[in-house]
Parts: sequence; C-alpha cells; structure tokens
Amino acid sequence: MGDDMGGVRPESLMMSHGHDPHQTEGSVKVPIYQTSTFEFASAAEGKHFFAAKGAGYIYSRLDNPNLRVAEARLRVWDGAEECLLFGSGMSAISTTLLATLRPGDIFVHSHPLYGCTDFLATTFLPEFGIMPVAVTGDMHESAVEAAVEAAMAAGTSDARLGMILLETPANPTLDLFDLEMYAAIVERHGRPGSRPLLAVDNTFLGPMWQRPLEHGADIVIYSATKYIGGHSDLVAGAVLGDRGVLEPIGHLRADLGTTASPEVAWLITRSLETLQVRTDKQLENAARVAGFLRDHPKVRRLRYLGLLEPGTRAHDVFKHQCLAAGALITVEFDGGEAAAFRFLDSLGLIKLAVSLGSTESLAEHPGSMTHAGVDEDVKRRLGITPGLVRLSIGVEAADDLIADLAAALDAV
Ligand SMILES: Cc1ncc(COP(=O)(O)O)c(C=O)c1O
Repeated sequence: MGDDMGGVRPESLMMSHGHDPHQTEGSVKVPIYQTSTFEFASAAEGKHFFAAKGAGYIYSRLDNPNLRVAEARLRVWDGAEECLLFGSGMSAISTTLLATLRPGDIFVHSHPLYGCTDFLATTFLPEFGIMPVAVTGDMHESAVEAAVEAAMAAGTSDARLGMILLETPANPTLDLFDLEMYAAIVERHGRPGSRPLLAVDNTFLGPMWQRPLEHGADIVIYSATKYIGGHSDLVAGAVLGDRGVLEPIGHLRADLGTTASPEVAWLITRSLETLQVRTDKQLENAARVAGFLRDHPKVRRLRYLGLLEPGTRAHDVFKHQCLAAGALITVEFDGGEAAAFRFLDSLGLIKLAVSLGSTESLAEHPGSMTHAGVDEDVKRRLGITPGLVRLSIGVEAADDLIADLAAALDAV
C-alpha cells in the first residue's frame, strides 16, 4: 500500500507532493530536467548509483527528477506503493506483459480489449507460445475456471496461468468485470513462491472513479494520455502496484527504453493539479448528456454506467467496484455505419477524433477506428456494431454539448 498522507486528500497534494521548492531556487513548479545524463561527484559515487537502485540519478532512460515527482503524485490516487511512468499506454501494457509472461503461459484477458492490446493478446504473444483465453463480463467464476482448465489441458505439461488482464469498464462496450472474483481465481492458481498477477487497465474510469488495488488487483495500468493527461497534448502510460510486483517491470522499462521523457513527466505533473476539477465537471456533463440521449427517438441503444439497470449483475459490480459513472457514453443507431457517419459528420463542437478523457468532447466510430483491427466476428459478438459511436464528454457547457448532439441527431 501507498504512503500515509496524513488524511490529506489527493487533490490537495497535487500542487506540492514530492517537490521541495527550496531545492530548486524557490521554484514553486518543478523545473524540467532537460538532460539525458547526470554528472557523478566521483567514480565511487557512480559505482554506488549503479549498485544501489534509486540512490541517485544516472541516465534519463532509467530515472529523472521529473519522472520521480510525477510518479510520486500519481501513486497518491491509487494508494499504490510504486508507480512507473511510460512513454504511452501501450508501452506500459506491453512492458508489463513482456516482464510477466513466459512461453507456455496461459494469459487470460477480457474481451473486448482496446485494439492494440487485442493485437498483443491474440496475435503477437501467441507467436511466443503464450496462449490467450478471452473472458467476457457475463462469465461466472466456474465458466472462467473451465476456460482456464481447457487451455491448461491443451497446453504443455507445465502450463500455468501467468496473468489475468482485465479492461474494466471495457473499451468501448463499458462491460464490467468483477475484480474480486478474478482476485480469487489468481489466488487459487498460486504455487509455492508465486502466483499469477491480476492486472487492470483502468483507463476508462481513471484513478478518480475506480481503485482496482482496493479490490484485489496487483497491478493498475493507465493510458495516461486520457483523463490523467487530460488535455490531448501528450501521450503517456503508467503502471502502479507494490514495489516487489513492479520491480521486474521497472527493469524491463529501462532495458526496452519505454520510459516517459522528462517533458512528458512534467506535463503529467501539470495535469494532475486539475485532475479532480476537470473530471468533476466531465462527470456532471456526462450525466446531463446521457439524460438527454436516453429518451431520444434516434438512439436505439445507449450505454452509460450511470444508467445500468438495478438488479443486474453489471449494476451490482458497478455499485461495489466503481466510485462514479465516468464520462464515456456509447450510442447505437439503426442504419449501421451510414447512420453513425452522418451523425459524426454533423457534429460541430464535439470533435471527430479518437482518444478520450480530455477537456474537449470527442466522438469516434470504434468499428472502423479504435477497434478496426479486432476480428469482425468478435466485434459482432461483443456488440461493437457498425452503428456504434463512442462519446467522451469534456468540460464544455453541458447545454452547448446537448445542442450540438441534438443537431447531429437530426441528420441521422
Ligand atoms: C483502454 C485503453 N488502454 C490503452 C490504450 C493505449 O494507450 P496509448 O494510446 O496512451 O498508448 C488506450 C488508447 O486509447 C485505451 O483506450
């Protein structure tokens, strides 16, 4: 677990935690350490820095003061012991998978997955003998165990469950996965001295609205490009968890060179100052927008976590596991891709672009954009239909967003 912050809330710590202005000429903001390398005071000091990890700065692919401040602040939100910042969400995910999985391992992953993660799971890793097992949000524990057992039986004699990676809520369907159920599964597959890791891609809710470490996850992963960065002006990723769990991932980050640059780490530090106020407004706006779309005759189906039906399993998981409904909404139109494109092409204030979680509202077509690479059959089965549009709600005036959506819906 993370540091004791003396009861001070994360949003209050984002302006100061991990930085002492008196170490930097009184600079209230952290300066950018625009350097690739650091001078040692002596050869003996250089030797010591290499021998004792974290004793001092060596080279910016390994560590940098901007990384340290951004990581210290980011880990406050999830209450994590350790945080590693990466050059993108995908470098965070790929470094984590490569550090953890070995040939012959079974890799359980949620379905659907963000398109590039889906490629790693279903195409790239199998080329190295890692066997993917896809699970969906409606599966109960016995069905997941049966799928794992079947993969074990088909695998090598020493096949083991290596890792479970869940994207919950899933991109773009907002399907929810019960983290405590999966935590029990990894526990059951433990062997003396080791157990599979449960990793959660928490990009869709971010650390304000879901804290997977509190529900049994070992690792939390973010595309920090989204809510954490929040301004569509950077690409970054993060991995959080206990120090021991993250150690091999940190080593591989240095060796692969997937580390975030000092400038990106600085921008993340800037963004974290407003994470709470930005996302409070996004949350409020999304609830207003969902309320408008819910009863609109042109919308065949609306997905929004704030409108899950009470009494359903998804609603129970949401209530137990999530802190708020987030700012993502999907709408589905009769009339397939043509209707979805008419809608997208008619938006004005809301930008037609991939990505999410930023100050500006965005809309995209998962079937032909973010999830274009996902197998067509899988897309159909999981509900990534040609008529589906994903909306990420920003901080604009809600009335203006609703007016923009109303005009675009007229064109469908
Ligand atoms: C759920 C999810 N995970 C990971 C990624 C990849 O992040 P990045 O684009 O920062 O590499 C994305 C990107 O959209 C995403 O939506």
